[in-house]
Amino acid sequence: MKNVLQFLSFTTLAAGVALPAPRALYFLENNPAGANIVSLKVSSKDGSLSDPARVPTGGNGLVGVGNTGAAVAMDTLFSQDAVVVSGSHLFTVNPGANTVSMFTIPNRDPWHPQLVGSPVSSGGDFPMSIAYSPRHQLACVANSGAKNNVQCYEVTDTGLRSSGDPMALPLNQTTPPVGPPSTVSDIVFNPSQSALFVTIKGDGTAPGYIYAYPVAHGKVLPTPRVSRPAALGLNFGLSFLGSDSRAVIADPGFGGAFLDIDCNMNAVVSKVVNVTGNAANCWSQYSADLHTAYLLDAATTDIAVLDAASMEIKSTIAGPAATTGKFDAAIGDDYLYTLDATDSVSVYSLKDSTAVQTFNLTGFGNRQFFQGMAFYGGRVY
Ligand SMILES: *[C@@H]1O[C@H](CO)[C@@H](O)[C@H](O)[C@H]1NC(C)=O
Ligand SMILES: *[C@@H]1O[C@H](CO)[C@@H](O)[C@H](O)[C@H]1NC(C)=O
Ligand SMILES: *[C@@H]1O[C@H](CO)[C@@H](O)[C@H](O)[C@H]1NC(C)=O
Repeated sequence: MKNVLQFLSFTTLAAGVALPAPRALYFLENNPAGANIVSLKVSSKDGSLSDPARVPTGGNGLVGVGNTGAAVAMDTLFSQDAVVVSGSHLFTVNPGANTVSMFTIPNRDPWHPQLVGSPVSSGGDFPMSIAYSPRHQLACVANSGAKNNVQCYEVTDTGLRSSGDPMALPLNQTTPPVGPPSTVSDIVFNPSQSALFVTIKGDGTAPGYIYAYPVAHGKVLPTPRVSRPAALGLNFGLSFLGSDSRAVIADPGFGGAFLDIDCNMNAVVSKVVNVTGNAANCWSQYSADLHTAYLLDAATTDIAVLDAASMEIKSTIAGPAATTGKFDAAIGDDYLYTLDATDSVSVYSLKDSTAVQTFNLTGFGNRQFFQGMAFYGGRVY
C-alpha cells in the first residue's frame, strides 16, 4: 500500500487474550477468462506465506502485447500498483472489461475480500494501475489502451461513483497496448494526498513523462503539471520517500533515479542510480522504518537496496537463483514480498537482508497472469 502508515497490531478477544492481527498478501490474476484476487495467508511470526485462495473480481483480464506482436509472458499490464490496499479497502483493475473493482477486507478473515456492488467503468481502455486517497476518499485509475486517461471516483460504502470526467493521457496506443515502451506505468497519490502522480514510459528514444494533478476540495483537478526529466526514458514504478518532495522511480534502462518534487509539482532528477547488472528494474518500494528504497529487476535475482538519505546503493539482497527475476512487490512488517519471474512469490527479511521463503505457485495458476501486490494487517507502507 502506498505511503499510508497503518498500525493494526493486536486485537484483544473478550477473554483478554491478545492475538496477532491476521495478515494477508494479495495479487491480481489478470485472466481474460475471469480475473481474480489471489490472497495468501501471512505468518505473524516470520512473514511466511501459505494457503493461496481466489476471489473473482467480477471482471476480465487482458494481456498486453510485446513488440513482436505476441502476448507478453509476464507483466501483462506493464504496470506497478494493479492492486492497492488501504485500511479495509482493496481496489483492483479489470483490463479486459474496462472496469474497476472495490472490495472490503474482513478484519478477522482478510483472505476472503468481499466485492462491493458491481465493477464500475474505468472511463477508458485497459485499466492497469489504481491509487487510493483515504484522506479524500478518492480512488483514481489509469487506463493505458486506445482510450488512455485517468478516471477518479468517490469511494462510498456502497461502491465507486465517478468524480469528474476522464483526464486524457498523451499516448497513441491500441487495446491491448503494445509495450513496454509508450505505456502507462503507475498511478500514486503523494503522502499528503495533495497531488496525484502518473508515470508514463517514453517511446524508447524520447524521455518518459511524469504527470502530476493537484487535489483541491476533495477533487482531482484536470490540468496536470507535466515533467519530462531528460535522464528518464522508461519511467516505471514510483515510490514516495515519506514526504511530498522526494521520490524514487525505477527505469528499466539503467536502474532508477531519485526525484525532487517542488511545490508546483515539477519533478527533477536529483540523482541517477545506475544499478550494476541492470536488466529491467521496473518496480520500486520504500520502507519508512529503514528509510531504504528497493528496486526490483525482472531479469536478475538481486534486489538493489538504496539509502534514501544518501541516495547511494547501500547493499544488494541476493534472491534465490531459481527465482530468476522480480516483478511487483509489497512491504509488510519488515518483510518484502516479490512476484518472481518463476511461478512463485518470495519473502525477504529486510532487517537481515535474507531470503526467508519462496512460495511455489506451480499447480495453483498461470504465472503469466500474476500482477500487482499488496499487503494487509501488521505494519503496511
Ligand atoms: C499513432 O499510431 C498509428 C499506428 O501505429 C500511426 O499510424 C499514427 O500516425 C500515430 N499517430 C500519432 C499522432 O503519432
Ligand atoms: C549512469 O550511466 C550512464 C550511461 O552509462 C552515464 O552517462 C551516467 O553518467 C551514469 N550516471 C551515474 C550517476 O553514474
Ligand atoms: C516450483 O515447483 C516446480 C514443480 O515442482 C518446479 O519445477 C519449480 O522449479 C519450482 N519453482 C521454484 C522457484 O523453485
